[in-house]
Amino acid sequence: MSAPDDVTLVGLAALSAPVVRARLLAAHDRFWAVDTRPLHHPVWFDQFGGFGALARGADGEDVGYLLGVVTVDRLAYLHLLAVRYDRRRTGLGRRLVAWFDDLARNTGARVVQTVTRPEDTAAVAFHTALGASAHRAQDRAGPGEDRLVLTRSLTR
Ligand SMILES: CC(C)(COP(=O)(O)OP(=O)(O)OC[C@H]1O[C@@H](n2cnc3c(N)ncnc32)[C@H](O)[C@@H]1OP(=O)(O)O)[C@@H](O)C(=O)NCCC(=O)NCCS
Repeated sequence: MSAPDDVTLVGLAALSAPVVRARLLAAHDRFWAVDTRPLHHPVWFDQFGGFGALARGADGEDVGYLLGVVTVDRLAYLHLLAVRYDRRRTGLGRRLVAWFDDLARNTGARVVQTVTRPEDTAAVAFHTALGASAHRAQDRAGPGEDRLVLTRSLTR
């Protein structure tokens, strides 16, 4: 299915970072099945907000978002990506990632990487569909907390 035309992507830099963060945290359970609140540290909005994007529906509601950063060694790190439950499988995740990819390429990035729980089948299927390859990192988030590191080339 293609993304509905009513959705607009806006760079976080154009918005008030604390206001957007508060709104997304208030709507947390419409985007996430597990508690990701601690991952929404203000630094992702205040300092790295220039790499983030918000997707808004025609009614102005937040329907998806992405947080990330590009490191000095040309790695685009996609920290969080979420699409509201009622907007999934419409191509919006793909659109948000394409937005980040373009920005990352223009910043000199060669590779994009994200980290997810191995049991998050939707996230793994999504990133794999976009061409990422997965590597299991044992105990990455603490003892017994393995994560999958998903890596994709950004070269055109
Ligand atoms: C992962 C997530 C961002 C995908 O967003 P989305 O807008 O639904 O994804 P898209 O519609 O752009 O899907 C693109 C492709 O990814 C794959 N895909 C996406 N979700 C999938 C799922 N649940 N199962 C299998 N494949 C899936 C499909 O190949 C899909 O293409 P298709 O719909 O033409 O078959 C969304 O499920 C989500 O917000 N999940 C919860 C948060 C999360 O886990 N984020 C990732 C951690 S960084």
